[in-house]
Amino acid sequence: MEFLQVCPIHKSKQFILECCDLINSEWPRSKAARLQSLYMSSDKFPTSLVLILDEQQVVGHVKLSEIKLGGDELMIETMIIHREHRGKGWGKLLMEEAEEYAQRSGFQTIYVILIFNLESNIQGDGTIKLMDHNTSWLQIKA
Ligand SMILES: CC(C)(COP(=O)(O)OP(=O)(O)OC[C@H]1O[C@@H](n2cnc3c(N)ncnc32)[C@H](O)[C@@H]1OP(=O)(O)O)[C@@H](O)C(=O)NCCC(=O)NCCS
Repeated sequence: MEFLQVCPIHKSKQFILECCDLINSEWPRSKAARLQSLYMSSDKFPTSLVLILDEQQVVGHVKLSEIKLGGDELMIETMIIHREHRGKGWGKLLMEEAEEYAQRSGFQTIYVILIFNLESNIQGDGTIKLMDHNTSWLQIKA
């Protein structure tokens, strides 16, 4: 039975290096810059949440950052699930936990960056089929 926990990285600093490697496995960047970004995590945002498997392995990460669009809003970015564990519902779980974390912190609106090809992914009924490579915004909770 797998045991999953979500916690802020600044309260579980022993996982920072592993988290850095996980994120860099998807979006390569200098380790120093990535670590600096992770060390900025705090209760006051930005906050990096990590998904921990069996109290020992970092299998997911998501970052919540404060943005100002006329009110208090958060943005979700750098969402990643370890390649070996994708398609098991863990991404959804981490997103739900991130939403709850935001709500507990007093935020009601969360934005995500979606990556999709606008031209080829608008479907006949007007919905968007998610694919890759252009950036857009979607308000998912208000
Ligand atoms: C995107 C990602 C976080 C999804 O994590 P996951 O654990 O595999 O996702 P889940 O198994 O929880 O799937 C949740 C839902 O998202 C859908 N989904 C998963 N990956 C998807 C993708 N790449 N495109 C579109 N939908 C996707 C699933 O079909 C599922 O839908 P359902 O609830 O209707 O069945 C993971 O594939 C990943 O880390 N990708 C690389 C990094 C990335 O692209 N991050 C997003 C931009 S920051």
